[in-house]
Amino acid sequence: MSEIKFFSGETVPLEMHKVTIVQKLELPPVEKRFKFMQEAGNNTFLLNNRDVFMDMLTDSGVNAMSDRQQAAMLMADDSYAGSETFTRLKDTLEEIFGTPYFLPAHQGRACENIICQTFVTEGSIVPMNYHFTTTKAHIELNGGSIEEIIIDEGTKVTSEYPFKGNMDIDKLKNIIKENGKDKIAFVRMEAGTNLIGGQPFSLQNLKDVRKVCDENNLILVLDASLLTDNLYFIKEREECCKSKSIREITLEMASLCDIVYFSARKLGFARGGGISTSNQDLYMKMRELVTLYEGFLTYGGMSVREMEALAVGLEESMDEHIISQGPQFISYMVNELAKAGVPVVTPAGGLGCHIDAMQFVSHIPQNQYPAGALAAALYIASGVRGMERGTMSEQRRSDGTEPMSNMELLRLAMPRRVFTLSQVKYAIDRIIWLHENRHLIEGLRFIEEPKSLRFFFGRLEPVSNWQEKLVAKFREDFPDSL
Ligand code: F0G
Repeated sequence: MSEIKFFSGETVPLEMHKVTIVQKLELPPVEKRFKFMQEAGNNTFLLNNRDVFMDMLTDSGVNAMSDRQQAAMLMADDSYAGSETFTRLKDTLEEIFGTPYFLPAHQGRACENIICQTFVTEGSIVPMNYHFTTTKAHIELNGGSIEEIIIDEGTKVTSEYPFKGNMDIDKLKNIIKENGKDKIAFVRMEAGTNLIGGQPFSLQNLKDVRKVCDENNLILVLDASLLTDNLYFIKEREECCKSKSIREITLEMASLCDIVYFSARKLGFARGGGISTSNQDLYMKMRELVTLYEGFLTYGGMSVREMEALAVGLEESMDEHIISQGPQFISYMVNELAKAGVPVVTPAGGLGCHIDAMQFVSHIPQNQYPAGALAAALYIASGVRGMERGTMSEQRRSDGTEPMSNMELLRLAMPRRVFTLSQVKYAIDRIIWLHENRHLIEGLRFIEEPKSLRFFFGRLEPVSNWQEKLVAKFREDFPDSL
């Protein structure tokens, strides 16, 4: 992937791959999309994928594989113990991370279960740049708590700061001083920080965190699920890394950490997960839990075919042309939307394009779920499915009150190598149309609210007949279009 300057002066991302397998898509007309949204309880998680034109819910487990990955799947060695496939995957991880020990697991949260059961105890603390939902849940399940110490710039929606995922080093030092180092289970850095809009940390920041960990004898854990985006941004934005290869930066990052874990649904264009380390003691401490929860040590709950695809996908992740596809498409989308006055998280990060619903539909109060309402409206207007990342994704307190999220984002994930630029342009166009007509969008209220993880299964209804009005306006503006 590389950005290319056209004769017209426009700069566009150019795909450095060709499509050899395709999947047919349906774009149901707006009237049907309205009906499907009603049937899904205004919750994009409850839509059937066959009714979705562009599935931008997540980039997890939905990235396109390459011909080389598919070919490798035919060579899988399916044995319970000692499979050749495991050796190939382990060797690849050793080559790219420099870590001789590898524990496979069925996905990212399974790695978190193993790490947290091993290192988190009642009352312990895990300082981190920012939490991810499953990580926080596993730490709390084991009696621990999290301390989010992202730099202040990190949670500002619009910014030009290149590394919004950086950890605040002074805050880290203070936490250790106030609580004592024995209370710290480990320090966690999340690459391509998911919940603040796929924002990277710098290599220098990781070095600074390592220094504090060394001074206090603390374990440093890297969540590498979104590593490739972070690598791309380090190479693009950090002066010291401009002449380094992606492989060199990866090796340097991994060498600064004691444990590297990842969701292979994100890293490596496959499915599964794993934990890598160079430290034999840490490996031995975690090993038993793999056989208890995942499977034998040489497959860990993964299919060997996926493991073969992962080994090749990890190799491909060291290719700058391949890993730049996501960030460059995202940057194109973010910049086009920003030019049209649509409020988006800036600078463009990895993972996807994040629309600031707090501003987009500023007339909707937070207890009527602005980001959820915007997600429903966007599906009706375009068949594009996004994910609410705001108050709907929060859990009620034990007294029944509702915490208001400090950001109301509509996440439009960009699965890697899946969409063409004309599809991205279509999404941009419909979002701009929706923005022009934003006054028509109103809020939602729960009609079925599960106690936990309500955003997955909850059903909502519009507070008025605003969706009928939105459909009518769409028909007026696009009389002949789907
Ligand atoms: N860490 C990060 C940074 C993630 O983004 C995810 C998953 C996980 C851990 C958990 O991995 O799903 O394989 O168990 N993120 C997905 C998403 C769910 O849609 O952003 P998993």
